[in-house]
Amino acid sequence: METETRLHVKIYDASHERYEVPIPTPIVKEKASSTHYHFVYTKYPFGFSVIRQSSGTVLFNSTVGGFIFSDQFIQMSALLSSSNVYGLGEHVAPLKLSLDWQLVPLFAVDSYGTPEGLNHNLYGTHPFYLNVEEDGQANGVLLLNSNAMEISLQPTPAITYRTLGGILDFYFFTGPTPDKVIQQYTEVVGRPHMPPYWALGFHLSRYGYNSLNATAAAVKRMIDADIPQDVQWNDIDAMHNHLDFTYDPKRFDGLPVFVDDLHKVGMRYLLIQDPGISNSQPAGSYPPYDDAVKMDVLIKNASGLPLVGKVWPGTTVFPDFFHPMAETYWEKNLKDFHDKVAFDGLLIDMNEISNFVNGSIHGCPNSTLEYPPYMPHIDGTHLYSRTICMTAKTNVSTQYNVHNLYGYSEAKVTMTALENVRKKRSIVISRSTFPGSGAHGSHWLGDNNSTWTDMSASISGILAMNMFGIPLVGADICGFHGNATVELCARWSALGAFYPLSFNHNTPSSVAQDPPSLGPAVVNASRTALLIRYSLLPTLYTLFHKAHVKGSTVVRPLFFEFPTDNNTWSIDTQFLWGRSLLITPVLQENASAVVGYFPRGRWFDFYTGDEVSLTSQNVSLKASIAHINLHVRGGHILVTQTPNRTTTATRVNPLGLVVALDVDGTANGSLFWDDGESLDTYEKGEYTLIEYKVEQTNLTCDIIKSGYNGTAALIIDRIHVFGLNDMTVQTVTVNGQKAVFLYNSSNGVLSVSPLKLPVDKVFVMKWMAT
Ligand code: GLC
Repeated sequence: METETRLHVKIYDASHERYEVPIPTPIVKEKASSTHYHFVYTKYPFGFSVIRQSSGTVLFNSTVGGFIFSDQFIQMSALLSSSNVYGLGEHVAPLKLSLDWQLVPLFAVDSYGTPEGLNHNLYGTHPFYLNVEEDGQANGVLLLNSNAMEISLQPTPAITYRTLGGILDFYFFTGPTPDKVIQQYTEVVGRPHMPPYWALGFHLSRYGYNSLNATAAAVKRMIDADIPQDVQWNDIDAMHNHLDFTYDPKRFDGLPVFVDDLHKVGMRYLLIQDPGISNSQPAGSYPPYDDAVKMDVLIKNASGLPLVGKVWPGTTVFPDFFHPMAETYWEKNLKDFHDKVAFDGLLIDMNEISNFVNGSIHGCPNSTLEYPPYMPHIDGTHLYSRTICMTAKTNVSTQYNVHNLYGYSEAKVTMTALENVRKKRSIVISRSTFPGSGAHGSHWLGDNNSTWTDMSASISGILAMNMFGIPLVGADICGFHGNATVELCARWSALGAFYPLSFNHNTPSSVAQDPPSLGPAVVNASRTALLIRYSLLPTLYTLFHKAHVKGSTVVRPLFFEFPTDNNTWSIDTQFLWGRSLLITPVLQENASAVVGYFPRGRWFDFYTGDEVSLTSQNVSLKASIAHINLHVRGGHILVTQTPNRTTTATRVNPLGLVVALDVDGTANGSLFWDDGESLDTYEKGEYTLIEYKVEQTNLTCDIIKSGYNGTAALIIDRIHVFGLNDMTVQTVTVNGQKAVFLYNSSNGVLSVSPLKLPVDKVFVMKWMAT
């Protein structure tokens, strides 16, 4: 009973030490003095129950039989409190999981594309679920186990875990709200990393520019079309013969200068990096391999020699990121390369580990680790299919145990190395993830398709990753495989402008899909939506701060905020930024309207301030091709900023406030501001935190922290108040002086501007009405 809301249940072999997951978790010596749950244990039949004290709801009851604990097969079943189950990634599936006899494999794999269905395992593994009880309270359960696993979901409602090794290390979190569950979960696995501000700008990429000229032309097209862009990426085609830590001297001649030029105009540059290191270069010519051999940091096969697989550059070996020297090795090579090309962050790809041959170029030995007595229903014939042998050895354990941790371990080492090299915050976007990955970086949803189905599915994907503590997440906007149509790409660009991580990326065999290449409709949709995104980045950045400090999700489904409204439980076509901004994208072809659900409360059109007249029901909203529906929730204040083409240029512009009043006339919001890229600004106190609030007819603020003097350069130049219906505003004063304002009596919107309020000073705005 570790805390009031956290129970830790560990079932292990008392007489034989077994493998346990090596991610850091809190060490608790004393039992919590009071708890919100009961723990009931029975010896015959062996099992336990976790019961919520306040309601008596049984959250988890494993006394149902079928418990098996053997060396390579551990099974446990439990009854659940309700069939509202979310999580258990990574899969492409509706947000609310089907409990209709679903077999859910969890094993990191690079499947071709992203097949839909809970029965297809994907890049990451997240044995964590969130369960919303019938009364709207929520609990979460983590099984901290990294072996190949399969979970059976049953309509009872019940769950059966089957894992091929390790121990049963369970954490139970009792919330009671969904967001509290995630806060409690990330307290155990690690709070999300705080991204640099620029990472929240728009990123453009493609695999297959094939030359620096084509890359530069894509950037130029964006500038000419006046579409915001902060970051340009290059993929493996920029490498020399697909070798990590290189660029092609001919096709990408001049890359360092190009990157410096991007920096001069306030932009950034990212590169992709794969873990497979070529072992076939002439001796002494390729330090990434020579160093790895010298430092002995490679994953070994069962005979103790570096395991050789095959990836993009041909035959490759793989660093063991759990090796004590891995950080030194990786940092040296990253630094040497960074000294040439000053990249700002990395995508770490193919780290499931993806291998183009099964096991190794020599196959795998005959071992029960390769051929376990029970084979979970994963994609692939064997555990070692399209990855390395399970008998391979790392510093921590056999690959059989740590396979699912490769992406996690690579992200951790890469983030530390990048921060040491750049001395600034970076981003590390990892394809394979595990609980705790969010503390070291971010994620993208992988090789999706340019289809309407995959566009819709991306919403569940980003929402689930937020529940897994990885809030900085996005999907390839307009899709990776296949050709995006103009209409699909226009709609997807609008939706993608509201992903926490917003980037467009695709494969060489598809047509170019950067917005300008697809013509005016996509240009228009992208520019419009991205300018709104850029104008809302102070709000988004503040949400990332809350995620970093408290573990809250950045984007969340409606049920997080309205858990007692059962209409919200299965909605995955709309999502919220934090508590306050509702995004209702068009997900269907040929649509001119979209239906959204509006839970009880006040909701205001972000653009006009018009109030949605009917709530607790579906509402049809107009949605032309250049428009994405956004609604501000009553009771909340959004901080905005006049947008420009980059975050660098935007960050010096005036701020604004959008104040949406609740039924009782109140509203709250906050702003976290720092220099956007120094390391640990929160931890060092080098930030400003301001809380805005409306009480009666006063808008004012509290300066909670004033630790970043760059804030002094900013002003607030406009304030909009939504929801002043049934009154006529006569006078507005700011700090006691009469202010210029406009009041629209038809929708109750008050607009006060121009203002010149220093952001770091307290002010009071009052409106007087009849
Ligand atoms: C993988 C990645 C994809 C990348 C490609 C080439 O398929 O998921 O994003 O473009 O490899 O590096």
